[in-house]
Amino acid sequence: MDELQKAAKIAFASEFSFYLKAHQFHWNVEGMFFKQLHDLFGDIYKEVFDSVDIFAEQIRALDSYMPGSYTRFSMLSQIDDETQILDSKQMVIELLNDSEKMIKILKMVFDLSEATGKHGFSDFIAGRMDAHSKHSWMLRATLK
Ligand SMILES: [Fe+2]
Repeated sequence: MDELQKAAKIAFASEFSFYLKAHQFHWNVEGMFFKQLHDLFGDIYKEVFDSVDIFAEQIRALDSYMPGSYTRFSMLSQIDDETQILDSKQMVIELLNDSEKMIKILKMVFDLSEATGKHGFSDFIAGRMDAHSKHSWMLRATLK
């Protein structure tokens, strides 16, 4: 159970970092496809942001306290910060790679959750994997 809580907090901090990066890209994107990419990054950050409160409360229901500071997030997150202003194509590539990474991180949580019989939590995590699959599809299609 401790292992599940720890993995869930890593996934949560990674998800929050992913959200912040998508929002940063929404703010800073430039170029010929500004409007489309501003909107795509906007759709993605909003979807992820809308999920984090439920995610946190699901982890609280596992009887674990929630990290909620930049210091703790940077200790836990497996999604690297982006401090540079990237060109628009690099933004899409990086967010696609991070979305794929999120699916792998979430799959580890899903397997631990199933192994401990927390099927309700597994269901929530499966939903996050589906959401990231959709984000990955849209980002991948943008690159073609
Ligand atoms: Fe906005």
